[in-house]
Amino acid sequence: GPAIVHRVADLRAQIHAWRAGGETIGLVPTMGALHDGHLSLVAAARRDNTRTVATIFVNPTQFAPHEDLAAYPRDPAGDAAKLGAASCDLLFAPEIGEMYPDGFATSVAVSGLTRHLCGATRPGHFGGVATIVTKLLLQALPDRAYFGEKDFQQLQVIRRLVRDLDIPVKVVGVPTLREADGLAMSSRNRYLSAEDRTMAAQLPRTLRESAARIASGGEVAPILADAAAALRAAGFTTIDYIELCDAETLQPIAGPAPGARLFVAAWLGRTRLIDNWPVG
Ligand code: PAJ
Repeated sequence: GPAIVHRVADLRAQIHAWRAGGETIGLVPTMGALHDGHLSLVAAARRDNTRTVATIFVNPTQFAPHEDLAAYPRDPAGDAAKLGAASCDLLFAPEIGEMYPDGFATSVAVSGLTRHLCGATRPGHFGGVATIVTKLLLQALPDRAYFGEKDFQQLQVIRRLVRDLDIPVKVVGVPTLREADGLAMSSRNRYLSAEDRTMAAQLPRTLRESAARIASGGEVAPILADAAAALRAAGFTTIDYIELCDAETLQPIAGPAPGARLFVAAWLGRTRLIDNWPVG
């Protein structure tokens, strides 16, 4: 597997040494339980940079008290093997005290972009994400950092904070990697029963069909109502949202426009799935 460091000082020492040798650094932040979607970010980082650094930290501040932090899947040995096979050069895997030392009292808040979609149903989530990603970017100071379009709102929040805080890192968005039936790869997919796993494919199917109807001029509200009904019929128990938004501002929009994108979050039993799809 790759070399593993647990301390910020060791991460910085290695990155400084590489930089002194004229190398470029790509950073891939994750929470582990790695799958091929994560590894597609590693592959993108390897294409653009001479060194690739992955981070694994299950960040407690982005989970609400009732969410799945304790049950979040962990597979350190499997993760190291996958990163090694993907030719990742370094893994930064800090302990909690390294990221949140005693007395930690600072947070990064991105307003506007976090009001809707997952920001509405997961209050506090994006504050935790913004804070930990800011720390990871400043700790590593890579040339480029890679984030998946699977978490589209997260990607936009990170683009915003990097611009607003003048963090000298280029943010690169990577397209969503999907299973053969269209389901977006996710660490949480492993929670699905065999039956739920089959039904989950209705999520991308519904997005694709709804996006096509909207793109061909259909009225948005009834299309979204049909989509919600189709998801319920397929066995989704709760739909947190299904919305048409502008991909830059993430504000809801009434009809197709350049940059229009569909966003969904829905539950199959105890598992919450999210996905998004461009319109046109
Ligand atoms: P995690 O869910 O582990 O995801 C790490 C990165 O992998 C994110 O940028 C996510 O968008 C990307 N990713 C996940 N599934 C993907 C797929 N199917 N195709 C392409 N990319 C995919 O997102 C987080 O961790 C955390 O919030 C983090 C940014 C690490 C901050 O704690």
